Amino acid sequence: MNKVLAVAKRPALYIVVTVMGLGSLSACTEPAPDVGQQQLVASLDEPERQLFEQGQLKAYSCTACHGRNGLSSHPNYPSLAGRSASELASALTAYRNGERKHALMSPQARGLSDTDINALAYYFSLQTPATAIQAD
Ligand code: HEC
Repeated sequence: MNKVLAVAKRPALYIVVTVMGLGSLSACTEPAPDVGQQQLVASLDEPERQLFEQGQLKAYSCTACHGRNGLSSHPNYPSLAGRSASELASALTAYRNGERKHALMSPQARGLSDTDINALAYYFSLQTPATAIQAD
């Protein structure tokens, strides 16, 4: 209680310190909220929403190469955003089965289950492709 009274004498300082503290805390514990993704999730009904969220979680491991939300910034790494889910799923299945081989990509697909593949394909198919973003 004494502490509370002491800081209450300097309310402005207290507020600044609190806001800064909370800001850095949330930055450490969770990724920055992406409003576009939150709206997308909210627009979906079950079971699609669950599939999307499953794909979203799995997709963290794809970000380094395919970019955030499947938008690649390097021509060696294809963008996945907005591609058809069946096309993405069959590419992933082909890498997993060894029908399609690539030194970087094949190991990524090796451990995926059918459900993982469907979830990833669904997640990336709903992302906005670069051409649509530029047109806006
Ligand atoms: C280490 C870098 C790397 C990571 C991580 C990675 N990929 Fe890839 N991915 C590539 C490269 C490079 C290609 C192009 C390979 C080729 O030309 O066959 C590719 C190709 C693909 C393709 C085929 C695209 C096309 O145009 O046919 C899909 C689908 C894909 N990746 C999905 C994923 C998913 C889903 C993940 C996460 C689970 C992932 N990748 C993680 C590097 C990566």
